[in-house]
Amino acid sequence: MSPSASTKFKNPRAKYNFEGRPCSIVGVGSYVPAKVLTNQELEKMVDTTDEWITTRTGIKERRLAAKDEFTSDMAAKAALRAMKAAGVTGDQIDLVIVATITPDMVFPCTACLVQQKIGATRAAAFDLEAACSGFIYGLEIAQQFIMSRTYDTVLVIGAEKLSSIVDWQDRNTCVLFGDGAGAAVLQNRPNSHGLLTAIMGADGRRANLLHMPGGGSRCPATAESVAARQHFLRMEGKETFKYAVQAMQSGASEVLKRCEIDITKIKCVIPHQANRRIIDAVGERLGAKPDQLFINLDRYGNTSAASVAIALDEAVHSGRVNRGDLILLVVFGAGLTWGAAVIEW
Ligand code: ACO
Repeated sequence: MSPSASTKFKNPRAKYNFEGRPCSIVGVGSYVPAKVLTNQELEKMVDTTDEWITTRTGIKERRLAAKDEFTSDMAAKAALRAMKAAGVTGDQIDLVIVATITPDMVFPCTACLVQQKIGATRAAAFDLEAACSGFIYGLEIAQQFIMSRTYDTVLVIGAEKLSSIVDWQDRNTCVLFGDGAGAAVLQNRPNSHGLLTAIMGADGRRANLLHMPGGGSRCPATAESVAARQHFLRMEGKETFKYAVQAMQSGASEVLKRCEIDITKIKCVIPHQANRRIIDAVGERLGAKPDQLFINLDRYGNTSAASVAIALDEAVHSGRVNRGDLILLVVFGAGLTWGAAVIEW
């Protein structure tokens, strides 16, 4: 008999005697654009080398969306794949959440554009801005709606066109990022893949480490702001690195503790794909073996909110995880924000 989700392992919410419905991930999907930008091509654009990028980050290539391909397009493609995997049609979806820092435009929200593209005519829709942590924030929010019986079917998407906010003259950042989208459909479905728990964290004291100064109410677009390159992403790499390792380790440790699960029981750790050295440091601190870590950043770089969503889809569809396996997702991003989740697949 196949294991039923959330029965073998402790659901951390049980301690509150909360009679919520268990929440399952009933389908995942992803999409990356066709165009590949290699490190060798970047060597011709900025003062960098394949050797530097590979040894300092682990990234070999990333995907770039076409000029006329936007975050909502990639999000919709990933969503349709997740819906197909889940056997869910647009009219069944109650809520669409799009996690992104690169919406098609400031408003209306990208989730409304996606709602229209996938025919989710009944669904409420909103965007969620938690940078690279957005997909896990989305899972936690979706879980709340399902546990409380407010909604039956929630679609969570992480989607980014980071190439539109990367400064292609700044070698410190332009080598790191890529475009793509990943999606998950969540429902209460017995004998499906249980989301055991998800947590979210934030520390606004570190907001300056990674930000885009222009385009908001503080610095609206002017000829001066454009000339000063204020509408591009800026990052303090070294400091960000340090906090990334700390935040991911503590987030992961907390979800494992809540579920009363030891790291050795986790089949696959899917960390935010920002830097190979960050992933290795987090893995080591958690006591994970290298073969527990799922890595695809060599092919996609950092796709922010899409990162773990794409990786989860690839881990599932490549057979890296099977029915009943435990998966640990752990993320970190601008804000600073972080999050972690445990799934019984
Ligand atoms: N090619 C060649 N040299 C470079 C490049 C490049 N692409 N980029 C930086 N350098 C140089 C720097 O100028 C510096 O030179 P200097 O010593 O002459 O000043 C030297 O390399 C070393 O720079 P460091 O900053 O010390 O390099 P580090 O080992 O810290 O690696 C990196 C930099 C890759 C950015 C790393 O700090 C990192 O990954 N940080 C975390 C980034 C991250 O995870 N961001 C998450 C974002 S999540 C979100 O929400 C979008």
